[in-house]
Amino acid sequence: MEQLVHQIEAYRQEVAAFEATSPDAVEEFRIKYLGTKGIVKAIMGEMRNVPNERKKEFGQVLNDFKLVVEAKYETLKENNANLQTSDSKLIDWSLPGDPVPVGTRHPLNIVRNQIVSIFKRLGFAVAEGPEIEDDWHNFGAMNLPEDHPARDMQDTFYINQNPSWLLRTHTSSVQARVMETQKPPIRVICPGRVYRNETISARAHCFFHQVEGLYIDENVSFADLKQTLYFFVQEMFGKDVKVRFRPSYFPFTEPSAEMDISCLICGGDGCNICKHTGWVEILGSGMVHPNVLENFGIDSNKYTGFAFGMGVERITQLKYQVNDLRLYSQNDVRFLKQFTGVV
Ligand code: PHE
Repeated sequence: MEQLVHQIEAYRQEVAAFEATSPDAVEEFRIKYLGTKGIVKAIMGEMRNVPNERKKEFGQVLNDFKLVVEAKYETLKENNANLQTSDSKLIDWSLPGDPVPVGTRHPLNIVRNQIVSIFKRLGFAVAEGPEIEDDWHNFGAMNLPEDHPARDMQDTFYINQNPSWLLRTHTSSVQARVMETQKPPIRVICPGRVYRNETISARAHCFFHQVEGLYIDENVSFADLKQTLYFFVQEMFGKDVKVRFRPSYFPFTEPSAEMDISCLICGGDGCNICKHTGWVEILGSGMVHPNVLENFGIDSNKYTGFAFGMGVERITQLKYQVNDLRLYSQNDVRFLKQFTGVV
């Protein structure tokens, strides 16, 4: 017992002299004295060897020691926290912060979102589909049988591994997938990336973006087509823009028409963009061919529909007067950050 009391006295001195200059040292102190295998616990274990009549006296010595250790631990902790605060005083708060640059939306996405939101207001839903397609959804179902010369209108990338797969050349393939799974009335727009094997230049690229639309119901007429597209153009480019329809040919629509708008760049006087005609073509359209409807079991005597497809790059070019298509995919921040539309 006497020996134990001496031992505790020695520990007391050790504790008093302990100094910590880092959080690690404080933790070491805690483990050494207060841990489950620490000194305080070990001395408590000695209690059973103390004769009964001296247990109370020893208990007090032990308790005292424990309080001293705990108080010391608190002081060490506090001092250390102070140390950290004084460290942080070394930071110069007046220095400029690390800048976090704010990004901007890609111009094609800004314009795509604008197109989508205009058609949404007319009740069109958005439909999306795969970029790697099969021949049927891209061509066959769209009334382009194999060997049909109109397939040459869209130079297609085929996939070596399986030539009946291809990179979709238009998002009409998504319309096919919608007709396959939904019954009329159908009113969808299909935004997405499409691919065509063209030599890259200022006016052509091997991929571009489209928004195509499809409306099928009873009594849908060419007048509905014209009015819908006219509404779209006015919302997109303003009330002063004029439109004209030119007869055209697409295998999946009959009759078909291309729609031009008066050139926004030169106001109709003639410039490079409108090839000095005062008009620029912005989309293809037409009444859905009965064969296409029948391909999906839609009764072409009961239902009619119109479809249209436009290139987002072309609309963006007119909106922002960008005259080189390649800029859209070169990822040059100096170009991209000029577009601050929020949509
Ligand atoms: N799919 C046609 C194209 O990519 C566009 C189009 C869609 C034309 C719908 C008419 C009707 O060229």
